Amino acid sequence: MTTKTIEKINLLNLITKAKIKADVILGDCLEALKRLPDNSVDLIVTSPPYADQRKSTYGGISPDKYVEWFLPITKEMLRVLSPKGTFILNIKEKVVDGERHTYVMELVIEMKKQGWLWTEEFIWHKKNCFPGKWPNRFRDSWERLLQFNKQKDFNMYQDEVMVPMGDWAKTRLKNLSETDKIRDNSRVGSGFGKNVSKWVGREMAYPTNVLMMATESSNKKHSAVFPKELPSWFIKLFTKTGDVVLDPFLGSGTTSIAAFQLDRNSIGIEIQEEYHELAIQNINEQTK
Ligand SMILES: C[S@@+](CC[C@H](N)C(=O)[O-])C[C@H]1O[C@@H](n2cnc3c(N)ncnc32)[C@H](O)[C@@H]1O
Repeated sequence: MTTKTIEKINLLNLITKAKIKADVILGDCLEALKRLPDNSVDLIVTSPPYADQRKSTYGGISPDKYVEWFLPITKEMLRVLSPKGTFILNIKEKVVDGERHTYVMELVIEMKKQGWLWTEEFIWHKKNCFPGKWPNRFRDSWERLLQFNKQKDFNMYQDEVMVPMGDWAKTRLKNLSETDKIRDNSRVGSGFGKNVSKWVGREMAYPTNVLMMATESSNKKHSAVFPKELPSWFIKLFTKTGDVVLDPFLGSGTTSIAAFQLDRNSIGIEIQEEYHELAIQNINEQTK
């Protein structure tokens, strides 16, 4: 979407940097999304409220009602997302009565019925998880990042997130077997094949779908902030300069800050006045 289209939305809290704009909308995302044009957003990255948890900070949704609550919102997201756009959903099912609840799995199935493709699942491995002891499980140090698309042919700029080859190159690529020197097609019929020898002498490789990032501990004014590296990584991977990034559950403004710093337009929606103000303040301070 061009910046012109964003101007049409005419919202009160428009923060402008050259031609890039950040809209920070106060309100319920279901209502606010209805005011956005069809196919107008290139990437949605968001972390919705957790089921039932954190009731003291903003109304939690019961795990049994989570899918029912979320589906009208994902329906609007499907409408506003551009055909080649991507939706990244940061979510993790909570434990209810000693078991992992299944609302995330149910949500995926229902979203597929709405027309979404469930393309991929990334894992956010939280590097700085606190130690702890529970009688029947270990500490939780990862969250899901589910990738949904409208069609199989979506925008993806893989070279933007390449990583250094690292020590792996020195060990694994040193002694190549005969299979390593030819394209080795997957024996399980996944369609994936690899020719390991192609990577000899290269400095950079494509990353895996596991993102190792520390949780954010510096932002004390909001209880559920994700690290800026998280939206930044997906913004680089799925958008280009001037594209539009949407976070319908903006919280402290992290996604908008990441988008703005990467010269993308952003739209953020936040229901709580206090967090809405905090987001505007953070965007202003961190994108000078
Ligand atoms: C998990 S937090 C997001 C935190 C954010 N990723 C950050 O880094 O600060 C979810 C946010 O969604 C907001 N929220 C809850 N229901 C909402 C709704 N219906 N519309 C818009 N925002 C909502 C909450 O107030 C909360 O700030």
